[in-house]
Amino acid sequence: MSMNIAIDGPAGAGKSTIAKKLAKKLGFIYVDTGAMYRAMAYYFLQHGILAEDEKAVAEACQKVDVTIAYEGEEQQVILNGENVNGVIRTEEVGNMASATSIYPVVRSKLVELQQGLAAKADVIMDGRDIGTCVLPNAQIKIYLTASAAVRAKRRYDELTAKGVSCDLEEIQRDIVDRDYRDMHRETSPLKQAEDAVLVDSSEMDAEEVADAILEIYKKAKRV
Ligand code: DC
Repeated sequence: MSMNIAIDGPAGAGKSTIAKKLAKKLGFIYVDTGAMYRAMAYYFLQHGILAEDEKAVAEACQKVDVTIAYEGEEQQVILNGENVNGVIRTEEVGNMASATSIYPVVRSKLVELQQGLAAKADVIMDGRDIGTCVLPNAQIKIYLTASAAVRAKRRYDELTAKGVSCDLEEIQRDIVDRDYRDMHRETSPLKQAEDAVLVDSSEMDAEEVADAILEIYKKAKRV
């Protein structure tokens, strides 16, 4: 049976940074499920489909094929045969992903892909509903969070380092809105699974968080 580690948490908690580090240390495959919702959202944006228009979203879903491939350790998301990794990291796509991931028709397509990947290999998968819905039997479940202020500051520093001019308050507002929507939707809302370990990274750097989760993993393997 494959070993599955689920990491859930709100936007900007550092899930992907940590999951990538751990995947490397443990020799697991990293699966970024947010990127899959982003690829679908990118398609909707490209085709002028509004997030509120559930019927149009459902129709579009029939024309969308999302798969993943790996270049070295880097996950690549393939949308209808085209690698879209380079275009899905914008705030616009992230917000659209949050707004359209509320629909069961969007989720069911991607959940199937995610479960197939986890059945085949040892994976660290991050997202919003991994421990609660996608991999309820994952051997390790982590709920990784940090205060909204800390998450906004990290995002601000990341963008500024890339030379993108941005406003800290606006980023924080966006994060709070996105958290609210992800936590209050009807289908698979973001919440801590009952058997997940809570890790608050507000006062920790990435290396400390990775070490803390590694300890949880080692302890779980001993019992
Ligand atoms: O992790 P991210 O910022 O790339 O995710 C973008 C959006 O996709 C997020 O706001 C909600 C949605 N999402 C989801 O509903 N379920 C997941 N497992 C992953 C992401």
